[in-house]
Amino acid sequence: MVKFNLPDNSKLTKGDYFKSDIGSKNIKKFQIYRWSPEDERNPRMDTYEVDMNSCGPMVLDAVMKIKNEIDSSLTFRRSCREGICGSCAMNIDGTNTLACTKAINDVKGDIKIYPLPHMPVIKDLITNLKSLYTQLKSIKPWLHSKKTQATDVENIQSKEERSKLDGLYECILCACCSTSCPSYWWNSDKYLGPAVLLQSYRWLQDSRDEERKERLKELDDTFKVYRCHTIMNCTQACPKGLNPAEAIAGIKRMISQQS
Ligand code: SF4
Ligand code: SF4
Ligand code: FES
Repeated sequence: MVKFNLPDNSKLTKGDYFKSDIGSKNIKKFQIYRWSPEDERNPRMDTYEVDMNSCGPMVLDAVMKIKNEIDSSLTFRRSCREGICGSCAMNIDGTNTLACTKAINDVKGDIKIYPLPHMPVIKDLITNLKSLYTQLKSIKPWLHSKKTQATDVENIQSKEERSKLDGLYECILCACCSTSCPSYWWNSDKYLGPAVLLQSYRWLQDSRDEERKERLKELDDTFKVYRCHTIMNCTQACPKGLNPAEAIAGIKRMISQQS
């Protein structure tokens, strides 16, 4: 049988332990993935004791407290801190989610935090999402309409037409879904993945768009859409409660109706 071993320098090791010296009885431990290209150390899990009496309720509050008060070298992305920008996406307690909307109290015991899975790590909790953004660009995520070029004409939708965008326009492109999708893990060079496909469906559903045919033709490819095997991890992971798996099924339906 073939045996696969990780190279020694990529094995996850036990990291440093940051003990709280405050004497609080309300301590929660956070085990956080650390890796930096700037030193020779292996990836490791550092453990931080955080005083919950002086910490906000969300995982992002704790991560920011760690950076501000315990270890300024901890690196992560965040911006809005209210579930709108998508930048604080990480793997918390085994699930891809947003650190700013994940309550600390929802996790029993120590909280383990990793970067989004199966993406190259730039540093600590920051992954490189460039390939996903290139795929997003490839589906031309904007309105294609001659009417929108004329600034003096309103491009009106009926209430029914507008409602078709519900469950799609709310996507914040956090990538929690794509990075939880096994098909995307193995074929992310060719399969567009749930985040980009949900975006694609958003434009396919827009009554004002005039390039539906061309968009569907572009998508009709063995890999781009059809690597979805309806495993549904994406829908389970979405922190905004959206349903990328259903959007992908919708694209498949549109392609088959057209051909
Ligand atoms: S569908 Fe949900 S999980 Fe996927 S990118 Fe959009 S908001 Fe994030
Ligand atoms: S339903 Fe499709 S996109 Fe979603 S996790 Fe499964 S294979 Fe991936
Ligand atoms: S910081 Fe913006 S979504 Fe979490």
